[in-house]
Amino acid sequence: MRKEFIWVGLIGLVILIIVVGLEWMKVGQSEKPKSLVMTLKHSALTSRAFTWYTESPNTDSILQLVKGSNRDFDGQDVITITGSTSKVDVGNNHVQGTHKAEATGLEPGTVYSYRVGSGKDNEWSTQASFTTESKEMDEFTLVNVTDSQGITEGDFDLWGKTLNKAFEIFPTAQFIVHNGDLTEEPEDEVAWDHFFGKATKWLTRVPFMPVTGNHDEVNGVADRYTSHFNLPDNGAEGSIVGTTYSFDYGSAHIVVLNTESNIKEQTKWLKKDLAGTDKPWKIIAMHRGAYGGKTYNKVEDWVSIFDQYEVDLVLQGHNHEYSRSYPLRDGKIVGDGGNIVNDREGTVYVVTNTAGQKFNEKKDDQFYHQVHFQNQKQMFAGVTIQADTLTFQAYDVDGEKLDELVIQH
Ligand SMILES: [Fe+2]
Repeated sequence: MRKEFIWVGLIGLVILIIVVGLEWMKVGQSEKPKSLVMTLKHSALTSRAFTWYTESPNTDSILQLVKGSNRDFDGQDVITITGSTSKVDVGNNHVQGTHKAEATGLEPGTVYSYRVGSGKDNEWSTQASFTTESKEMDEFTLVNVTDSQGITEGDFDLWGKTLNKAFEIFPTAQFIVHNGDLTEEPEDEVAWDHFFGKATKWLTRVPFMPVTGNHDEVNGVADRYTSHFNLPDNGAEGSIVGTTYSFDYGSAHIVVLNTESNIKEQTKWLKKDLAGTDKPWKIIAMHRGAYGGKTYNKVEDWVSIFDQYEVDLVLQGHNHEYSRSYPLRDGKIVGDGGNIVNDREGTVYVVTNTAGQKFNEKKDDQFYHQVHFQNQKQMFAGVTIQADTLTFQAYDVDGEKLDELVIQH
């Protein structure tokens, strides 16, 4: 009798351990959003787009917004939007969920608080807030970074620190342009976790506009990269959606090109796109350098279109060194060689080193280089446009200003 009691007791204990264990695993698999990032998909005045991941692919995609900062989400004025969920095979027999949602019809120049999640109580992101573009805005700054390209958590610490310093120097910057090579290996989901995790403070508050690099699209495949961003689909025919697009902010028209594929078709699209804007400032963002080197043969037609439509500034990446060109037109230096470019006389091409761990040895100086160095420090640039003046300022991660250029219309 006593023996039987012990057996029943033991079996009961085992069942209890299993039940508690299963509950604990459920908690471990919380469907809290990760890798949350805000982008622009349609007008910066009236919309914001969002992407996030969850460990499980079987959860809904809900976005909630409410006017004002630090609001709760219980009131009548909360806007609830249902987005879409897709499955992503992240390797090792693991499938995660990618979620995309967009808020449109927002009021310009207005602060909104938002959160994303599955809709269940304990499965919301931390709330964040953003401000839509104001119609009366007369000045804005964008932060430019490139090649964060990390593998380890430590690599992405450098990326986070670079953005922290960028927003310390340019606290009112209204969006970020990243010139490509976000991670070293696009199939490495742990790297993406760190990429977003280390910069979440900024990526959830100001729109993040990425360019496709050779570490983002590999052999014509950019699935993992595009699964992380909800971007404009107004790009070139035949390009992977989200790898070529254009958007407006204030008085600037910004065109994102993809140097990794579909070059010819992009040439036609680029021409049409630049012909169709009435914005006075034209900025291009692309990964590989447009000028000089091997890329030049492939994108020579792009460069003549930049000349034709008087593009002001071309933001680039890939070289992991700092360079700024003289203003160039028809393959020649124009202007007086100073640090002011007047009257749309030429296009300036820049590479703002890297926001990550990899520095290349400084390449040979070329005729078009006005400033060219390797300082072995992470860098970022602020591009400020106010009326007829564009100011480009490049800093290192310690906050030291290393270059400045003014473009005057
Ligand atoms: Fe790179």
